[in-house]
Amino acid sequence: TGDLSRGITGRGFWSSRLAFIMAATGSAVGLGNVWKFPYITGENGGGAFVLVYLLCIAVLGLPILMAEVLIGRRGGHSPVNSVRLLASQSGLSGRWAWMAGMGVLAAFLILSFYSVIGGWAVSYVGTSLSGQFTGQDAEQIGALFSGLLADPGKLLLWHSVFMGMTMLVVARGVRGGIERAVTILMPTLFVLLFIMVGYAITTGHFGEAVAFLFWPDFSKLTTEGMMMALGHAFFTLTLSQCVMVAYGSHLRKDVSIASTAVTVSVLDTVVALLAGLAIFPIVFSNGLEPGAGPGLIFQTLPLAFGQMPFGNLLATLFFVLLVFGALTSAISLLEPVVEWLEEKKGMNRFGSTLIAGGCCWLLGVGTVLSFNEWSGFTPLDMFATFEGKTLFDLLDYLTSNIMLPLGGLLVAVFVGWRMSRKALEEELSLRGPWFGLWYGVLRYITPVAVITVFIYNLL
Ligand code: PFF
Ligand code: NA
Repeated sequence: TGDLSRGITGRGFWSSRLAFIMAATGSAVGLGNVWKFPYITGENGGGAFVLVYLLCIAVLGLPILMAEVLIGRRGGHSPVNSVRLLASQSGLSGRWAWMAGMGVLAAFLILSFYSVIGGWAVSYVGTSLSGQFTGQDAEQIGALFSGLLADPGKLLLWHSVFMGMTMLVVARGVRGGIERAVTILMPTLFVLLFIMVGYAITTGHFGEAVAFLFWPDFSKLTTEGMMMALGHAFFTLTLSQCVMVAYGSHLRKDVSIASTAVTVSVLDTVVALLAGLAIFPIVFSNGLEPGAGPGLIFQTLPLAFGQMPFGNLLATLFFVLLVFGALTSAISLLEPVVEWLEEKKGMNRFGSTLIAGGCCWLLGVGTVLSFNEWSGFTPLDMFATFEGKTLFDLLDYLTSNIMLPLGGLLVAVFVGWRMSRKALEEELSLRGPWFGLWYGVLRYITPVAVITVFIYNLL
């Protein structure tokens, strides 16, 4: 299989294992950790949901992350072509490439609303800079946020700014800049989250928050909650969207896929838990509602900043870092769509970025309006599962709860049941029982778990 050797395709490599970890972590760590994890944890009653989520990361997310990086590195091409190449080597139909196609579609849909939420974070950079949090109480901070949501013009502006920044980076070709920026910004975000947790400890409600997050009360766990935990494990690790496949194709042969995947999963999980530990003490000490929904971090953290020494400075820094985390994730979402257009339609990079980003921006307008003008527009009310869901809710549900787990299932079947075991052993080169463990989980546990949750939810 000489044609699989990297150099022939003429593609670049990550300069080191660390560079890959940084880029993959940059894609993984984003709004999913700081914005989404805390609010869905709040909506689903805490501990039991968190436990299921952690299980999903360990038993589904990590093995699939390894499988995706493996597909990329073994294939050595763009995601679609890597899958096609590996399928043909195993005598399989070229239709497996559709799996990658669905991933690209999921990336496109997710980016459309991700950019709107990224826009909220951009707007909060300005709010922090102008010192508007100082001395405000929960009600005033809440009003600040509702004011933003109620104003489609503002939301549209910030959504456009965020999407514009993403497009700018992607159009200019990305890797060098991202590698360097992420190396500095990720650790800073960590430090800042630690400071926030430190502040949260002083609220006197830290114990309550720890109990909320880690004491499982299974009576609060619904089937929809389990489905959200499953979906979020995929969302947060940026799985099923060709991103990790694409990144894997730039990974050197001598780097261990397993240990890098473990590192990325652990870092991602730590950021999510830190965000939870920073936010829930503020929720409880101010008598706020844990299930407040998508606005949770925007209604809690500013309260804390408003009471801290150097609060405005720290708030500004925090939202700048959040924007950066969101941006590195957004870039990784737009990149596969752009590469797909380049490859399929033969467009140049500038044109395909303009078209992909433009369409995504347009779809994002639907999400913008979901929070105000169209908040009563719930088009799929006739189906019980979708009742009361706005356009934003539907996009989120369709991608996280359906498309991503389905993509994960396909990856597990493709790698676990269709690729040759010898190729996998060669690619992972794991010692002792580890290979067998990964292989067994990917072949049996992953498909069974995903299918069970699907069927459970249908009934
Ligand atoms: N994984 C990133 C996050 O948790 O914020 C961003 C992201 C990328 C989310 C891709 C979802 C996704 F499908
Ligand atoms: Na994440």
